[in-house]
Amino acid sequence: MSQFFENHIFCCTNRREPGNSRGSCAEKGAEDLRDYMKKKVKAAKIPSARVNAAGCLDRCELGPCFVIYPQGIWYTCKTKEDVDEIIREHLQNGRFVERLRLP
Ligand code: FES
Repeated sequence: MSQFFENHIFCCTNRREPGNSRGSCAEKGAEDLRDYMKKKVKAAKIPSARVNAAGCLDRCELGPCFVIYPQGIWYTCKTKEDVDEIIREHLQNGRFVERLRLP
């Protein structure tokens, strides 16, 4: 069976109420990072990748959380530079970005 996308990136953009003990990815800037990633993937013309917002991925304390399928590789991205590195290394060069991986 063929796959439509080679890489499907899910970005948690869940937001919890302020003061929640687990925090949330949205309060750490996940929405901006998701928008930035979407724009950059499109600009880089990577037709085999799709970026989608996701609900809570249950790793809130480590966020903002991203997971890329089909490999099932988890990342945390805190800055636009982190996003750039994932696009360049993971999506374009096929190399995992170890420094941003979640265990
Ligand atoms: S709020 Fe993002 S993983 Fe839970």
